[in-house]
Amino acid sequence: MGTPSNRKPVFRIVLFLVCAVLIFLGLNTLYSFTNTLRQLDVIELERDQWQRPSDVLRALDLREGNTVADLGSGSGYFTLKLAPAVGKQGQVLAVDLRKLSLFFLWTRALLRGQHGVHVILGDEDDPRLPAGSVDSVLICNTYHEFSRPEVILKRVNQSLHAGGRLVVVDRAPRPVADQRAAEHGHEVALSVVEGDLRQTGFEIVSHDDHFIDRHVDPQTDDSWWLVIARKP
Ligand SMILES: C[S@@+](CC[C@H](N)C(=O)[O-])C[C@H]1O[C@@H](n2cnc3c(N)ncnc32)[C@H](O)[C@@H]1O
Repeated sequence: MGTPSNRKPVFRIVLFLVCAVLIFLGLNTLYSFTNTLRQLDVIELERDQWQRPSDVLRALDLREGNTVADLGSGSGYFTLKLAPAVGKQGQVLAVDLRKLSLFFLWTRALLRGQHGVHVILGDEDDPRLPAGSVDSVLICNTYHEFSRPEVILKRVNQSLHAGGRLVVVDRAPRPVADQRAAEHGHEVALSVVEGDLRQTGFEIVSHDDHFIDRHVDPQTDDSWWLVIARKP
């Protein structure tokens, strides 16, 4: 057994090693985080080529000072484009179920100085939006993930003021022959969503059932629709 005096160097070495491991892990996490932020920018730049983001924003009919919600915001592809559209007096409420996506979004908004972006951790059936005060809501590439869409649409309806808009954009079902689409189910028919919208008190303003048509590869055609609805 060592005496108290020769135990001290051992303690220092252990402390040094623990600190070194913690610093290494911290730097590694920071590196992965900044790397993901860079990758998101690259992926979104490519997405700009086909997603028609400016037409989606036009469909939302936004004004300076508006409050707009991005329901199912992910890491912020649309949220970060909505912020300049509503200006410094406006607000963007970004709702998602995933804390990590919201953390990335929050960081990206902060780095861009977009102080009107607020993140909301939603619930499966409740986006937790403030009642009667939202001007427009966007649900892009997310509707197909809702397990009880009619419950969410009712909540969205409550959050909008009279005349407020809801824009839904999603991928159309591919032909049954395309097994990949059938397996993943990342798609929903426009007619189904329009039925849900009418049932939950929305009026359909217009729709584009071929909002995006693109050939991803020789086997896959990717078709998206867009619908504009309003709260009467
Ligand atoms: C495919 S991503 C699309 C993200 C973003 N709208 C975009 O177009 O880049 C779908 C997102 O919706 C979120 N989501 C799914 N169901 C949700 C719900 N009930 N409430 C809020 N967010 C939801 C998921 O966590 C995911 O981040």
